[in-house]
Amino acid sequence: MYRTHTCGELRMDNLNQTVTLAGWVQKVRNLGAMTFIDLRDRYGITQLAVEEHSPAEIREAAAHLGREFVVQATGRVIERASKNPKMPTGDIEVAVEKLTVLNAAQTPPFTIEEQSDGGDDLRMRYRYLDLRRPPLQRAMALRHRMAQSIRSFLDGEGFLEIETPYMIKSTPEGARDFVVPSRMNPGEFYALPQSPQTFKQLLMVAGYDRYFQIVRCFRDEDLRADRQPEFTQVDCEMSFVERDDVLDVFERLAKHMFRNTVGVEFEGAFPRMSWHEAMEKYGSDKPDIRFGMTFNDVTGLMQGRGFGVFDSAEYIGAICAEGCAVYTRKQLDALTDFVKRPQVGAKGMVYARVEADGNVKSSVDKFYGQDDLRALAAACGAKPGDLILILSGEKKHTLTALSELRLEVAGQLGLRDKTKFAPLWVVDFPLLEWDEEAGRFFAMHHPFTSPKLEDVALFDTDPGRVRAEAYDFVVNGVEVGGGSIRIHDSKLQQKMFEVLGFTPEEAEKQFGFLTNAFRFGAPPHGGIAFGFDRWCSLFGGSDSIRDYIAFPKNNSGRDVMIDAPASISDAQLEELALRVELPEKE
Ligand code: AMO
Repeated sequence: MYRTHTCGELRMDNLNQTVTLAGWVQKVRNLGAMTFIDLRDRYGITQLAVEEHSPAEIREAAAHLGREFVVQATGRVIERASKNPKMPTGDIEVAVEKLTVLNAAQTPPFTIEEQSDGGDDLRMRYRYLDLRRPPLQRAMALRHRMAQSIRSFLDGEGFLEIETPYMIKSTPEGARDFVVPSRMNPGEFYALPQSPQTFKQLLMVAGYDRYFQIVRCFRDEDLRADRQPEFTQVDCEMSFVERDDVLDVFERLAKHMFRNTVGVEFEGAFPRMSWHEAMEKYGSDKPDIRFGMTFNDVTGLMQGRGFGVFDSAEYIGAICAEGCAVYTRKQLDALTDFVKRPQVGAKGMVYARVEADGNVKSSVDKFYGQDDLRALAAACGAKPGDLILILSGEKKHTLTALSELRLEVAGQLGLRDKTKFAPLWVVDFPLLEWDEEAGRFFAMHHPFTSPKLEDVALFDTDPGRVRAEAYDFVVNGVEVGGGSIRIHDSKLQQKMFEVLGFTPEEAEKQFGFLTNAFRFGAPPHGGIAFGFDRWCSLFGGSDSIRDYIAFPKNNSGRDVMIDAPASISDAQLEELALRVELPEKE
């Protein structure tokens, strides 16, 4: 037996017991007469004490221990002379009677403690060492508990966990695919699934009624803090359902998760907001509703006074930052710099302060009288002491920039409290999105999403106005999940492909397997997929999903630990009938 207890287990109740522990040496403190060793495993840290009168071979072994050595120690549990109330095992220590080095270790490149001194790159390269640190171990444990909790809830609701293939066919819609060459079929490629979407629909045709899977998905897209090239979805599908049936089940799942994971109880239904309202009031399809600061359209109010920037704008939007009239010139300049950053993309920012006497002072006083500015303050619900921030320009662009500004100001005001959760369903998305460059419509969600049946007639007259039976689950401004009711009628599906610019032949070639299946009795169905990594990081209080993935990729999509992607040998290339031609470097 390597150990009788873990390093997180021993307490005063264990006094005088002889125990054996095994773990990693976190720290050795040599105080001359005494040597103290912090022994760590994933359960905690226990102090080992090697005393002056310990046998020479133990003192000798202790003297040669280094950080991260793997050791086994047997000894008696004794009460500590100086207790450490910060450690669960801080009342006791183990007086070592036998010490075995199970494995020596090189000095680790960074400290493996709660806080590390290692930079991001270094910790990614030695991810297995970083994973020894308590914050990552807590993250992995949280992820595990959440997965168990999801499985037990969905099992209780009659969902079957069914696996779908990872080697499938590349489809043109959506993000870029990762592809895998086939040796047995030279010149042909599998694609890794961006999601199990079509397979879960086929499972509904096959009569499985309620399916789920905690499944890896692969997308070759630009990475951000909340995006990884391979990520995990909690993917679900149900038959014989309408939108509200789906929302009911998954709202209960979400409440179950809030209760079991973060101990938050939600009374009543989660709020719902139309996509249109989300865009007009928050400039985002994933609004953070932990706080207000909604947009006010002041286009009509601010035009026609000779201020060229506003007069030529398609849209002028204002937000009211409560209590911020005291912002200094420097703070306002910093906000102006913020909105001008390329990621935000505004040309400038206009502000107006509401003073104690109700007078409004603005950066464009030249063009606006007190009546105009008081009307502006009224339109924004601004009181004395508040600050109004205004952006203008092309509408869609300005809404997005104002959304960034709103989040930035809220961050400064401490309104984005990570321990507070504000869930929201965003519903009634547009079905289609016009792409100027491609000169055609794309499905906003995916090509299998059902239009709202009352909007089907608009397909022929104004496709851009057709709304989808689609929904997103948003928490604190994070899109945690999304789904839709699907088209189950092959004629409607064909119509959809037509609007998306597919000829019947192309549609047949790409999606024939699905449209054919629909001819054999497809039940009405719909579902949702949650971004599991995002959900974990949200509950864990982190902005980066990387912290919740054991072996993530870096921002360039590389695994710097195993050094992937990498080139393959000429023999492998030949076997796959591939030739690599790299573009010349500029
Ligand atoms: P969607 O594309 O909205 O829907 O994805 C569902 C959820 O997955 C998460 N997500 C990601 N997480 C990390 N890294 C990524 N690159 C990434 N991309 C998406 C998001 C998102 O809400 N098949 C449909 C679902 C359905 O209709 O049932 C789908 O994949 O949290």
